[in-house]
Amino acid sequence: MTVAVVYFSEKDTTHQVAEAISEGVEKMSCQYHLLRVTGEQIVDGRFVSDEYLHTIDRCDAVIFGCPTYMGGPAAQFKAFCDKTSDRWDDQSWSGKFAAGFTVGSNPGGDQLATLQYFAILAAQHGMLWVNHEMPSDHEENIENKLNAQMGFAGVVPGDTISKRDVTVAARHGSRVALFSKRYSALT
Ligand SMILES: Cc1cc2nc3c(=O)[nH]c(=O)nc-3n(C[C@H](O)[C@H](O)[C@H](O)COP(=O)(O)O)c2cc1C
Repeated sequence: MTVAVVYFSEKDTTHQVAEAISEGVEKMSCQYHLLRVTGEQIVDGRFVSDEYLHTIDRCDAVIFGCPTYMGGPAAQFKAFCDKTSDRWDDQSWSGKFAAGFTVGSNPGGDQLATLQYFAILAAQHGMLWVNHEMPSDHEENIENKLNAQMGFAGVVPGDTISKRDVTVAARHGSRVALFSKRYSALT
């Protein structure tokens, strides 16, 4: 089982979440690829590299991530998402698992809109969305501060994600890996 974690991060907080998610994947004895979108891969507003698409072709699951910018996915990551239209024509990613994560600096920063976009992107590819598992009924036990169940949604007012966010993000990675393993055993 191999999981691709493809993401954009400018100041590194999303990168920290991506690393925590990867640790969770590894905990389930699965491999992972950390694929960070960079500005050099974007020319005239378009993501131009094929490498990440080829890597994802070989993976069982993909976890999309980027900061929330102006109530939606950062433009740099949206450029990558548009590039995936190369795989939309033949629906070659259909049946892979997908999940998402985002961070913002505000608790009411519209992070959910970014996760919703990732879920729609996954739907366009015929992928199977994995939501975020979380105890929701005991205030004192709430681990995910934003209560988002669509995916991991963090609030990072500074430069470093909290220890709790590391734990919660890792759990999300483990969940995606676990579902991929179970599905693989059935097929
Ligand atoms: C152009 C821009 C727009 C932003 N818009 C939002 C927003 O809508 N909601 C929010 O909570 N944070 C917003 N932020 C804050 C970032 O999401 C936050 O700083 C995040 O941690 C950056 O991720 P990074 O460290 O991976 O680059 C914005 C930041 C920038 C630069």
